[in-house]
Formats: sequence, C-alpha cells, structure tokens
Amino acid sequence: MLVSPSLLSADFANLAKDIEMINNSQADMLHLDVMDGVFVPNISFGFPVIEAVANICRKPLDVHLMIVKPEIWVDRMSKIGVEIMNVHQEACLHLDRTIHAIREAGMKAAVTLNPSTPVGLLEDVIGELDMVLLMSVNPGFGGQKFIDNAVAKTRRLRELIDRTGSKALIEVDGGVNESTGRLLAEAGADILVAGSYIFNAPDPAARILTLKSL
Ligand code: DX5
Ligand code: ZN
Repeated sequence: MLVSPSLLSADFANLAKDIEMINNSQADMLHLDVMDGVFVPNISFGFPVIEAVANICRKPLDVHLMIVKPEIWVDRMSKIGVEIMNVHQEACLHLDRTIHAIREAGMKAAVTLNPSTPVGLLEDVIGELDMVLLMSVNPGFGGQKFIDNAVAKTRRLRELIDRTGSKALIEVDGGVNESTGRLLAEAGADILVAGSYIFNAPDPAARILTLKSL
C-alpha cells in the first residue's frame, strides 16, 4: 500500500518538524489540502504555505484542490514542482480540458469524487487519468467519520479501471485508519490518505508503517 499523510492534521506552528518526520518516514508522498471557503465550508492554506513546504519536503507533493476553478492554477502548481494535481470533478465544467492541461504542464492528473458523485461519471476520461481520489468523507475537515459506502465505491472504481485497461491509481481520503484502511485495501485501493490517524498519534511514523503494511 502507498501512503500519503495529510498535512491538514499537522502542527501548523511547527510545520518544519512534521515535514522532517515525513522526510524520514516511509510515506510515499505528502497530501496537501487546499480549501477556498467556497467549494468547501472551510479555508486551509494557499501558495505561501505550499511553496514553503515544497522547499523542504523531499517526498512528492499530492495536492488536493478543494477549490472552484482549479484550472486557473495549473501553471503555478507546475512551477512549484507539484507532482500530482487533484481537481474535483464537481468543480470542473470542462474536465477533459483540465486533465490535458495538467498533463501538458508535466504533472500527474488526478480527479477527485465527492461521496455523492458516482464513479461512472469518469468512464469517458478514465484512460487519461494517473489517479482517482475517492472521498470517504465530505471534504472540508479532518477527523471526520469514514463513510462506509466508500468501500463498495472503491470496488466499482477498481472494476472500471480493470475493464478499461486504465493505468489510474485509486487513492482514498477521509476517516482512514487501520481498520477502514484494511477494508479499502481489500477493495482495491492503491494509496491511502490519512491525517488525524497519523498526526494525532504519539508515533506518527509507526502509523505510516501500519498503513503501508495493509
Ligand atoms: C478532508 C481532506 C482530508 C483530511 C483527511 O477534506 O481532504 O485529506 O485531511 O483527514 P482525516 O484522515 O483525519 O479524515
Ligand atoms: Zn484531502
């Protein structure tokens, strides 16, 4: 299993310390949750923080944009050196165009689905995607309860990917811990995002290892 710790649950007064932990851990990437207060009912952080993190983080950056009009920021994300740019399906009127713009800018393209958005809506773009991010909570906050339907949804996405020969990886985000992570692993997830489960623990690196072993 690949693991993408979500910085949203880190200590924002000591980000350098938490990123050093990530650098020295078995984490495969670092998940950055950007919220605009419009697409989701919360505001997190923006470019000054992303750039500061990019300067010291040695893991690839997996940026999850919970914002309207994410296509505006493709070039800026690429210049910062972001590896994976996640845009919400619900936020993109011209999703195919945005996916191509992300790839042409040299990044991996990922589309995120809210819990209420069906997997079938990706049928016509799945071949162009590097990753699909399934939300297993309604986006906007860390520490929420896992929505059980995400397990069956992961299975449906696995079927779509296998049937179409897509190379997209499946990432799941929200309420992930050892037990929900195990269910997602069995359903075919490739990458687990976890915020509170990792950062609210006395030994975050050990929790990363636990999720990696699933
Ligand atoms: C929620 C974010 C998540 C969040 C997950 O909107 O997309 O990445 O940090 O937090 P936990 O793992 O605590 O549910
Ligand atoms: Zn996220």
